[in-house]
Amino acid sequence: MLQTEKSILAPEALLSNVWTHLTHIQPVVGRGAILKDKEGNEYLDFTSGIGVINTGHCHPRIVKAIQKQTEQLIFGQMNCVIPPTTIKMAEKLNEITPSHIDRFFFANSGSEATEAAVKLAKCATGRSNIIVFQGSFHGRTHLTMAMTTSKTVYRHKYQPLPSGIFVTPFPYSYFYGWDEETTVEFCKKQLDLVLRGQTAPDETAAIIIEPVIGEGGYVPVPPAFLHHLREVCDEHGILLIIDEVQSGFGRTGKFFCFEHSNVKPDVIVMAKGLGSGFPVSAIGATAEIMDKWTPGTHGGTYGGGSALAGAAACETIDVIKEEQLLENCNERGEQLRAGLRKIQEQCPIIGDVRGLGLMVAVEFTNPDKTANSEVLGKVMKKCLDNNLLLLACGPYKNVIRWIPPLVVTEEQIAKGLKIFEDALKSSI
Ligand SMILES: Cc1ncc(COP(=O)(O)O)c(C=O)c1O
Repeated sequence: MLQTEKSILAPEALLSNVWTHLTHIQPVVGRGAILKDKEGNEYLDFTSGIGVINTGHCHPRIVKAIQKQTEQLIFGQMNCVIPPTTIKMAEKLNEITPSHIDRFFFANSGSEATEAAVKLAKCATGRSNIIVFQGSFHGRTHLTMAMTTSKTVYRHKYQPLPSGIFVTPFPYSYFYGWDEETTVEFCKKQLDLVLRGQTAPDETAAIIIEPVIGEGGYVPVPPAFLHHLREVCDEHGILLIIDEVQSGFGRTGKFFCFEHSNVKPDVIVMAKGLGSGFPVSAIGATAEIMDKWTPGTHGGTYGGGSALAGAAACETIDVIKEEQLLENCNERGEQLRAGLRKIQEQCPIIGDVRGLGLMVAVEFTNPDKTANSEVLGKVMKKCLDNNLLLLACGPYKNVIRWIPPLVVTEEQIAKGLKIFEDALKSSI
């Protein structure tokens, strides 16, 4: 009886309502920047699963590495054994991170890795508080929700949230309407006020920042501000944690985005692009910091244990290196930004085109510089009608983010630009 009632439901109705969906496409095949559904419709995927599929859907080398590993070992629990793939993954990360970062911890998602970084910072410094930036997105678990201020939807109905999190402005020049130098000076002063008025330096374990604020609007942090954070952290013994969950693994044209400014983080948080679709995340820190993490106080059943995730991550790093994906990312990123700026000349509703590598944004604003989310909604819908998948971001829902896989071709970028241009011109 119960079974009959249950089987009446349409398949999609079985899924929790808590997910919002950009589309109702059900892809059955993915190749590079293309997704195909069972009717044979092809979509240009410029979301990359929110920055996960940097190597493209089903990269043949990664598929092969996973297949090979499946025949050997699927899982080894880290508290019971040590899968060799986990050691290899640490070696690979050791090769691509700065020389002072030489200890790694693994988890499954970006939120978990962020939480791990905060726990490490608290344990290593003996301090309780964390400073985050306005507009940041660090995840949706309780702690990372408290660290997330990109949109109220992530905290609505869940407050009060864990304490000890202090929020200071992010240098988003376009939003403030100031030049970069003025914005950086303002944000420096605000941070100083937070340290004087809300969390004393000797209670502050870490400052955590996304080098390109993601959900909050795709805004790269000015290098001068990142250097300032390094100085403040050095002065007060605060750890500088860089959240590279979305900006890492070649997304901005370098393996890690902080490399654009040569600032040395104390802790790096990694996820998304690391596993090319396998749930795996990591934090990297100096031996000095990691050795202060009390054994047994953190971990999990799955973290570091999936040999398949390990194999996928190792191959991902090799593919990015050996197939010159950073070069392609930079070239295609230039092409994309140049194409968007050309469209901007004819359509001033595009107030700003910004980004690094293939982490690119267009922000829609009215002549008085207020946000225009109406046009964004129309453009996104028309792009989808023409099989181009794009994502929005920003607290005012007026920013389109472009995150194609790093394997995207010149023709695919040109096609995406044309679909976008037509969609925009018929929406204004
Ligand atoms: C910068 C950043 N940090 C953390 C997270 C949380 O990662 P996850 O969704 O895998 O928990 C995200 C997710 O989008 C992110 O973009």
